[in-house]
Parts: sequence; C-alpha cells; structure tokens
Amino acid sequence: MSIAFFHLLLYITLFSSLTIRSFPSPNSPYLSPKIIFPNYQNMLINFKIFIYEPNSPLTFKSPAELLFYTSLRNSPFATRNAQEAHLFFVPFSADLSTRSIARLVRGLRTDLPYWNRTLGADHFYVSCAGIGYESDRNLVELKKNSVQISCFPATPGKFIPHKDISLPPLATPHAPHAPTNETASGSFRFLGYFRHTVGTESTLARELIGDPDFVIESEPSDEMTNAERLSSSKFCLFDYEIDISGIGEALRFGCVPAVITDRPINDLPFIDVLRWQEIAVFLRRGGGARELKRVLDGTSQDRYVRMKELGVVSSQHFMWNESPEPLDCFNTLMYQLWLRRHTIRYVRRE
Ligand SMILES: *[C@@H]1O[C@H](CO)[C@@H](O)[C@H](O)[C@H]1NC(C)=O
Ligand SMILES: *[C@@H]1O[C@H](CO)[C@@H](O)[C@H](O)[C@H]1NC(C)=O
Repeated sequence: MSIAFFHLLLYITLFSSLTIRSFPSPNSPYLSPKIIFPNYQNMLINFKIFIYEPNSPLTFKSPAELLFYTSLRNSPFATRNAQEAHLFFVPFSADLSTRSIARLVRGLRTDLPYWNRTLGADHFYVSCAGIGYESDRNLVELKKNSVQISCFPATPGKFIPHKDISLPPLATPHAPHAPTNETASGSFRFLGYFRHTVGTESTLARELIGDPDFVIESEPSDEMTNAERLSSSKFCLFDYEIDISGIGEALRFGCVPAVITDRPINDLPFIDVLRWQEIAVFLRRGGGARELKRVLDGTSQDRYVRMKELGVVSSQHFMWNESPEPLDCFNTLMYQLWLRRHTIRYVRRE
C-alpha cells in the first residue's frame, strides 16, 4: 500500500469517525458514549458463539486465559447451534505446537462448512503469547483473518491492531479491592508511585530513587500498604516494556496511570472502547526524570481531576470475576468481539 493511499485511508477513517460518532462528551470515558450502552444491551440479548469441542482438556499459561475460557463456556453466549452463531471459537492449549494448530485448522476447514465461508474471519482464539507469521496456509488464515485474543502487552509482531484484542492483566498479588475511607482523602503525599518487580527496575526508576516526590519500591508487602500507596500518589508510573500489570488497580484507586514507552502502543486493552488519552498520560522514556516531572507537574488540576474520574469509571472494565458481572472484563471483551462480528460469508448455507 502506498503512503499516499494509506494517508487517504487515515483521513477517511478519521473523518467518518468524527461525523458518525459526533464528538465524545468530556464526561465520558468512552469513544462512542451514545452507542455503547444500547449496543451492549443488544449484545447481551443476541450474541451467539459456537465453541468447537477440543480434542483433549485444555491447559492455559495465564489465569486470564483460563477465566476467559471458562466464563465463555458457561455464558449464555455459548450456543450448540452453529446456524445461529455470529462467531466461532477455536479452543487450543497454550503449549500446542504451531504444526498441531495448523492441523486443527485444516480439520475445521475440511470437515465442517464454517471455516470456508469467511476463511476464518468469523473465528477467534485465545493465545496469551499470540501467533507469529508462518507460511502454512492454515496458520496464515488463522493469523490474518481470525480474531486473536492475547495477553497484554503483546509480543511485537504478534498483534494485528485492527482486529486483535488484548486480555487485560489480572489483579496483581496484594491488590487491594476497593478504596477505603481512610485512603480516599484526596491529598497526595507523592507525585508518582513506581512499583516494580525485584530486579527489573528501569533506569528511570533508578533515577527517581531518593526523590521525595516519588515512591519507588518493589512489590509492596501487603494489601494495606498497596492501597495506601495507590491513594496517596497522584500518578502511578508504569514502564510499558517491563510491567504494566497493576494498571486496573491504579485506575480503580484514582491513581492516574503514567505509561512510559518509547514506541506507539497499539494493543492497549479495550482500545476501541475507552478513550485512553483521557484516562492515562503517555510519556517517552528518553526524556528521563526531568521530562517526567515536567509533564506530571504540568498537568492542570482540571485535566487531572477529569482523568481521575474517568479512570475510576473505566476501572470496572478491568475487573475479573469468577462469575461475570455487567461491564466487567469478560463482558467488555465480549463486547469487543461483538463489534467484530460483521463479516461477509461467501457461501451461505440455509
Ligand atoms: C473448503 O475449501 C477447500 C479448498 O480450499 C476444500 O478442499 C474443502 O473441502 C472445503 N471444505 C468443505 C467443508 O467443503
Ligand atoms: C465512610 O465514611 C462515610 C461518611 O463519611 C460513612 O458513612 C461510612 O460508613 C464510612 N465507611 C466506612 C467503611 O468506614
């Protein structure tokens, strides 16, 4: 695709999103605030997923994958009637070799009529690590046409932005559940809270150690300390390349995420649902501690308060529940799938 054509496409996309969506309300964390709730209700009533029966019991690498899979199986979205299904789920274990995945897809293609209708475009699968580019035809179609649900952040080269979906991380160990009265005081002791796993602190974190505006530490010892940190810090710092797993808790506690990254992020969870620019700050790593402080200090009080409020509203979408609740992580992932259900079927079997 030529650059000019690509830009034309970009303008068309931008222009149509402005005219169709109208301008997002400043009080909403959603990209399409007028559409999301009726569309979500519509999904609850109508969405049907056909799940292929796996050959053997599945094993997953991450708890998020397992939660998604069990929630889906037990949900009212699952149907045994393939004729009414909008989408088809291809289950396989995390450790299945690419060759076996290829064989699995070939089986679907030859034994059943559904794959050929869209060459896999109305199919989806979960793979925490994601699938890379392969030359095998079955894998090419799975990779390029089907919707992949992978863990956030995705491995570079294993995520296709316009169709793939990110699984938000589960809550971290010692994640406090809800802000308490004691912690929700509104005055901040720290400009930023930077938590890291032992041994993985970034150069930026090392630069900030000793700065009284920041609290830098490896995993806090307990839930109460974590709650205290989250609510007494204005911003929660995350290094996108290292560990961004506490982002849901930060939002819930009104600790506005400041995400440090040197490359564009195109796999943010719920990127087609939430206005990320309104709930988080994105910063270059190259600017170092000085630029970080300048940007955080330079955020106006009005903007800060709005980000914080929208972040708290958005945080419900990051909550995983054993049995799914309205607008929680599972249901919002389902909503993203619902947004991707429009595919053209070449061969229709009536
Ligand atoms: C799907 O298409 C392939 C050719 O691309 C064909 O070999 C296969 O039999 C078709 N599957 C069904 C179920 O008709
Ligand atoms: C929090 O504070 C409010 C009033 O400020 C009070 O009504 C409520 O019971 C408190 N909750 C807890 C858990 O202490």
